[in-house]
Amino acid sequence: MPTALIIGASRGLGLALATQLGNDPNYNGSTGTTFATVRSESFDSTNLPQSVVVIKGVDLNSPEDAGRGIAQAIQSNGIKSLDLVIINAGVFVAETLDAPKYEAEAEMYKVVAIAPVFLAHHLHKANLFSNPSKLVLITTEGGSISLRTQEEGGGNYGHHGSKAAANMVGRLLSIDLKDSGVTVVMIHPGFMRTEMTKAVGYDKYWDAGGAVLPSEAAASALSFVSSVNPDQTGTFWAPRGPRDIGEAERVLGKNLPTPLQLPW
Ligand SMILES: NC(=O)c1ccc[n+]([C@@H]2O[C@H](COP(=O)([O-])OP(=O)(O)OC[C@H]3O[C@@H](n4cnc5c(N)ncnc54)[C@H](OP(=O)(O)O)[C@@H]3O)[C@@H](O)[C@H]2O)c1
Ligand SMILES: *[C@@H]1O[C@H](CO)[C@@H](O)[C@H](O)[C@H]1NC(C)=O
Repeated sequence: MPTALIIGASRGLGLALATQLGNDPNYNGSTGTTFATVRSESFDSTNLPQSVVVIKGVDLNSPEDAGRGIAQAIQSNGIKSLDLVIINAGVFVAETLDAPKYEAEAEMYKVVAIAPVFLAHHLHKANLFSNPSKLVLITTEGGSISLRTQEEGGGNYGHHGSKAAANMVGRLLSIDLKDSGVTVVMIHPGFMRTEMTKAVGYDKYWDAGGAVLPSEAAASALSFVSSVNPDQTGTFWAPRGPRDIGEAERVLGKNLPTPLQLPW
C-alpha cells in the first residue's frame, strides 16, 4: 500500500505536490495514502483532495514537531511504513552585505537544513521508511556553490547557505540510509510563481525568467521522482532542466540535458 508524506503543504509547491498525490490512484483511497503536514492549526483542509490526511500544527522550527511529532502522527493513523517522503518547507528572507539578518538566518537553517535530520532520525528509529523507499529534499539551484558567480552577484547568505547545507545533509543521509533501502535525492523544482518569490520581489522576473505555476513544477518533480533509481542516491537534480537556472550555461556549458544533474 503506497504511502507518501509531504512536509510543508499549506501553499505553493507543497500544496501542489500533496494535491497531485492525493489525486493519484496509487496514493489515495483503498490502495494508498497521502499525508501532508501544515504548520497552522487552522489550515482549511478543503484546499486539498479529501483523500489527503492532513497533519496540522507541524512547525519545523520545533525539534519536537519536526521529528517525533510527525512519526507519531503517521503511526497513530495505523501506517507501518512510508514509500515516499518529500521535505518541501522552505523560507526565503532576502539579505545583502549591508543588511544581514541574524534571526532570519537562524530560522532558514533550522527549517531547511536542521529539521530534515531530525525528521529522518525519527522516521528511521520508528522503522517508518519502507525498503525500498525515497526521501526527497526540495532544495534549490541557489544552494549550489558552483552556480554562484560574480555575474549573478552575492547576498542572500541565509537562503543560499541553508540550502547548500540541506544539500549536504541529503548527501549524508543518503549514505546513512543506503542499507535501509532509502534513495535520497535533492531537487531544484524550478522557478515558480509563488508567495516565496513574490515576497522577495522576484515577481518582476516571473515572465522573463519563465517562472511556472507550482502545479507544473510539482508534476515535473513527481515524474522525476518516480523514475529515480537507487544508483542515483545522494545526487542533486533539476527535473525541468537548465531553462530557469541563470548561470547553468556559463558554468556547465551549452546543450544541457533535461533532467539536469546539478553540481554542488
Ligand atoms: N519558488 C521558487 O521559485 C523556488 C525555487 C527553488 C526552490 N524552491 C523551494 O521550493 C520549496 C517550496 O517553495 P514555494 O515557492 O512553494 O514556497 P512558499 O510558497 O513560500 O511556501 C513555503 C512553504 O513552507 C512552509 N514553511 C515555512 N516555514 C515553515 C515552518 N517553520 N514549519 C513548517 N512549514 C513551514 C510554509 O508553510 P506556512 O504556510 O505555514 O508558512 C509553506 O507551506 C521551498 O523549499 C523553496 O525553497 C522554490
Ligand atoms: C483517487 O484519485 C482518483 C483519480 O483522480 C479519483 O478518481 C478517486 O476518486 C480518488 N479517490 C479518493 C478516495 O479520493
